[in-house]
Amino acid sequence: MTTETTTPPAPRKRRPHGKMRRKFAGLLAIGVALLAVGGGYTLFAPNAEQNQAIAQPDAALVAKGQELYNAACITCHGSNLQGVAERGPSLIGVGDAAVYFQVSSGRMPLARQEAQAGRKPPLPQFDPDTEEGRANLDALGAYVQANGGGPETPAQTGAALRGDDPARGGQLFRLNCASCHNFTGVGGALSSGKYAPSLATPTEEQIYTAMLTGPQNMPKFGDRQLTSEEKRDIIAYVKSVTNGSNQVGGYDLGGLGPTTEGVVIFVVGLTAVIGFAMWLGAKN
Ligand code: HEC
Ligand code: HEC
Repeated sequence: MTTETTTPPAPRKRRPHGKMRRKFAGLLAIGVALLAVGGGYTLFAPNAEQNQAIAQPDAALVAKGQELYNAACITCHGSNLQGVAERGPSLIGVGDAAVYFQVSSGRMPLARQEAQAGRKPPLPQFDPDTEEGRANLDALGAYVQANGGGPETPAQTGAALRGDDPARGGQLFRLNCASCHNFTGVGGALSSGKYAPSLATPTEEQIYTAMLTGPQNMPKFGDRQLTSEEKRDIIAYVKSVTNGSNQVGGYDLGGLGPTTEGVVIFVVGLTAVIGFAMWLGAKN
């Protein structure tokens, strides 16, 4: 640096009172900022308590999930998720990503045995477009996740799951997906009555969880096969060739209502508070 001076730094005056006061002022500022963030959060997310329950799976959520499971899934997947011969496979270790994919896309609960469990409108209580449906999917997923772990649904939703490099996504898609789903995601027939479906309908979450869990004949693409970023780029590509919008609708930030908005306010606010605290620290 050319502007550097050679004068040694002035000796620091010892002023314990001033230091204390500054420290106190800093703490006060953090307190005020925290209050403001908290206030904003409660203001914009009237059901903050409920959101918290979804954010960190707890015993109550798992219990609710078990109840839903016992009502809709137990006949085919067994009382301990162990599976039932001739009816349904074990769900131990499939993870809540598999539950989200299968149930939100209406494949589960299965209506009748076919060559392949096809996509259909989800049951109303598991419709990912409704708040109740999302909460129920979360609970069901938490119950399965609590029994054997497995891949988890991503934290982001909707357009936030689209990467910013659809061109790289296209390359990866041609390498990993086009052999079954065709180059533009229109799908295609496989052997013995099975088919790779068109990718025009699934939402970002469903594309992501399909890759993570590999339904039916589809291979699993764990994070070692395709990193989370590569999956996002593939999603961006799929959305760009299938006209970009989710036919199911309502998946942007606004469409999700207070949950997302509350979380965004919370995260942004918290980052500001931490930044402010660090700035104060650096200043002292
Ligand atoms: C009528 C029987 C039946 C019912 C009811 C049913 N399933 Fe299934 N489930 C199956 C069958 C059969 C498969 C395998 C389908 C396939 O691979 O095409 C399966 C597959 C799955 C998978 C994929 C497992 C994997 O290895 O990826 C999940 C997850 C799943 N079911 C969850 C559920 C949930 C949750 C419910 C309740 C909401 C449910 N199922 C209700 C029969 C059923
Ligand atoms: C070996 C063939 C094969 C490959 C490779 C493959 N898939 Fe699939 N995919 C399938 C089949 C079969 C299904 C239907 C599964 C079912 O219905 O249970 C499917 C289902 C899907 C679905 C769900 C569609 C819906 O209607 O809900 C998505 C999304 C998807 N695949 C994305 C991908 C992506 C992205 C890749 C590449 C990273 C990929 N697939 C690679 C065969 C394949």
